[in-house]
Amino acid sequence: MSEAILETRELRREFGAIVAVEDVDLVVSAGSLHSIIGPNGAGKTTVFNLISGTLRPTRGQILLRGEDITGSPTHRAIHRGIGRSFQITNIFPNLTVFENVRIAAQALGKDNFKALSPHRRFGAYMDRAGVVLDLVGLSDRASVPAQVLAHGDQRKLELGMILAPDPEILMLDEPTAGMAAEQVPELIELIRNIQSSANKTVMLVEHNMQMVMGVSDCITVMHQGAVIAEGTPSEIRANQRVQTAYLGGLYTDLGGAG
Ligand SMILES: Nc1ncnc2c1ncn2[C@@H]1O[C@H](COP(=O)(O)OP(=O)(O)O)[C@@H](O)[C@H]1O
Ligand SMILES: [Mg+2]
Repeated sequence: MSEAILETRELRREFGAIVAVEDVDLVVSAGSLHSIIGPNGAGKTTVFNLISGTLRPTRGQILLRGEDITGSPTHRAIHRGIGRSFQITNIFPNLTVFENVRIAAQALGKDNFKALSPHRRFGAYMDRAGVVLDLVGLSDRASVPAQVLAHGDQRKLELGMILAPDPEILMLDEPTAGMAAEQVPELIELIRNIQSSANKTVMLVEHNMQMVMGVSDCITVMHQGAVIAEGTPSEIRANQRVQTAYLGGLYTDLGGAG
C-alpha cells in the first residue's frame, strides 16, 4: 500500500452532549479513492469539516503527509492542497463555464501560481482552466453561460471548480445528491477517472452503495460517530458488524451482493 497522505488520530468533535465524531482514526493512502459511508447523522460531514478546517476538533489530531495541521483554518487547508465541496457552490450563473473555472483557479490559486508575474499568472490560470474543462468533460461547453448547463453538467462544473486550484486531495460530500439516478454512474465514473488520470486522492461520501462498492479502494464505515469497519469493498461487504448495523436500516443492499 502507498504512503498515507492524510491521517486522523483519535479525532473527536462534540456538540454539547452529542459526540458527532468519536475518536476516529483514519488512514488515507495517497492516490486512493477512499469512501466514508454510514447512515444520516453518522458523523461523515463533521469529519470532512474537521479535516478541511471548517470546524475545530474537541481533541485529536489531523496529519497531512505526517505534518500536524490540526486547527488550521480552511484557507490554509486549501493552500496545503485540500479541496472540498460545499453544499452551496459559488457558480456565477452569467459567466461562462470557462470563466467560472478560471476564477476558481485564480481565487484559490496555489502559492506556486502566485510566484509568477501577473501576466504569466493570468496565462497560467487560463491554461489551468483549459486542462480542468478537459478533465471534467466540459470543453465543448466552455463558452456557454453556466446557467444554461443541464443539471448533470452543473455538477461537472462544480467538480471542475474544486479541481481548478489543483488540490492533492478532493473531498466530495455527496456529490450526486439530488441527481437523477441515471446520471449518477457518469459522475462517479468521472470522479474515478480524475482520481486515476490526474493522480488525485479522493475522499468521497456517497449514499449509492452500488457506486461506492464499485469505485472505492478503501471504505470506512461510520455509525453514531464511530468507525465500525474499514477495508476494501469486498471486506466491507462481508463484515458482520456492518451488516448488522445496516440491517433494516437505510441500506439493505450493500451493493452487488448478488
Ligand atoms: N453544527 C452542529 N451543531 C450541533 N450538532 C451538529 C452540528 N453538526 C452536526 N451535528 C450533529 O452531529 C451528528 C453528525 O452529523 P453529520 O456529521 O452531519 O452526519 P452525516 O454527515 O454522517 O449525516 C448529528 O447528530 C448532527 O445532528
Ligand atoms: Mg452529511
